Amino acid sequence: MIFLKSPWEIEKMRRSNAIVAETLQRLREIVKPGITTAELDHFAEEFCRKKGAKPAFKGYRGYPFSLCVSVNEEVVHGFPSKKRILKEGDIVSLDFGVVCDGYYGDAAITVPVGKISKKAQMLLKVTEMALYKGIEQATVGHRLGDISSAIQQWVETHGFAVVRQFVGHGIGKSLHEDPQVPNFGRPGKGVKLKEGMVIAIEPMVNEGTYEVEILDDGWTAVTKDRKLSAHFEHTIAITKNGPEILSRV
Ligand code: MF3
Ligand code: CO
Repeated sequence: MIFLKSPWEIEKMRRSNAIVAETLQRLREIVKPGITTAELDHFAEEFCRKKGAKPAFKGYRGYPFSLCVSVNEEVVHGFPSKKRILKEGDIVSLDFGVVCDGYYGDAAITVPVGKISKKAQMLLKVTEMALYKGIEQATVGHRLGDISSAIQQWVETHGFAVVRQFVGHGIGKSLHEDPQVPNFGRPGKGVKLKEGMVIAIEPMVNEGTYEVEILDDGWTAVTKDRKLSAHFEHTIAITKNGPEILSRV
């Protein structure tokens, strides 16, 4: 069941998503060779609490941390760790969510650690642009498949692959609501987009195979071929004037 959001609900979601966006912006600034991924998790939790929000992922289906930190071949849901020291040339995906006044915010970015390879730069660019290709399609009267296929087309045209096993989602009073928002599909298929829908669009893009596997911790998803993966996510509202990106500073 898809819950449409009223203007005042969207107003609340602007707030929670602004906190997420600001946290990610600060994290982007502190990512450097030598920092541990546990420090990033700690910063995110403290920062959002100072803003009056609660981390959304901690305890969600048993996820033990506030931030998902996925380095290089890790796709999503990587565990922060005191032992994981970021080094020059890594790429690191930071996925963060909060709940504030009963409404959720969710977004992700992938950032370079120092100087990275040409190939990695390309992967980040293509993934971030894939997100915007999807957002562009999020208008009243379009269908979900228009978003999905725009992302898939863009990514595959550039020689990369979209992950199938994880998808975007509706969001509101819960972190995950209907509908599911895949990053692959066919134009003109799926539910019709309506004013008041709020969805998280989150392409996960792999350098090699689209296939992923889950590590023994039960959470960390890695590429099957251990090649690089990137992830960008925004929470957006569908309005009569087009898509509004809520998770933007
Ligand atoms: N952005 C991710 C998602 O929407 C984060 C979920 S991590 C979890 O699925 F720990 F909360 F599951
Ligand atoms: Co999400």
